[in-house]
Amino acid sequence: MSYTHILIPVDGSEPSYKALEEGLELAKKYGAKATALFVIPKGGEFIDLFDLKSVREAFKEEGEKVLAKAREIAQKKDFPLALRMAEGKPHEKIVEAAKVLGCDLIVMGSHGHGSLGKFFLGSCTERVLAEAPCPVLVIKD
Ligand SMILES: Nc1ncnc2c1ncn2[C@@H]1O[C@H](COP(=O)(O)OP(=O)(O)OP(=O)(O)O)[C@@H](O)[C@H]1O
Ligand SMILES: [Mg+2]
Repeated sequence: MSYTHILIPVDGSEPSYKALEEGLELAKKYGAKATALFVIPKGGEFIDLFDLKSVREAFKEEGEKVLAKAREIAQKKDFPLALRMAEGKPHEKIVEAAKVLGCDLIVMGSHGHGSLGKFFLGSCTERVLAEAPCPVLVIKD
């Protein structure tokens, strides 16, 4: 199997940066492009809160920080990394980005910021596994 474009969703959690490291190594190995994606969570139960401009701005700032750290990690490896931000339900936006960008591999963490227990997979990862148009590599935390 060979890969041409690897999508690496990052939420700022340690497991997601671990997945980024792994995704970049694979991209290097296969001569593939790599794209990091941060999704500003929107929709569902927080929709009213999200409509506050200040809340939206805070999420955007957080996303910028997360992507800046992702860029630093890639620079240390001397490997180019494209950065993207989207707004919506994280799993939907990850699947959509994989389709739009024509990614042939998604590398993501087993968990992120939210998990209480480590027995089950994170809900975002579980949904991406169910709906992704390509293979998904889950990096265990
Ligand atoms: N907002 C997001 N933007 C980009 N990637 C994300 C986002 N949320 C999660 N991910 C990706 O999904 C992986 C697993 O996170 P997930 O959200 O599934 O688990 P969790 O936060 O531990 O649990 P849950 O969200 O179900 O409470 C992360 O390591 C990251 O790769
Ligand atoms: Mg989460």
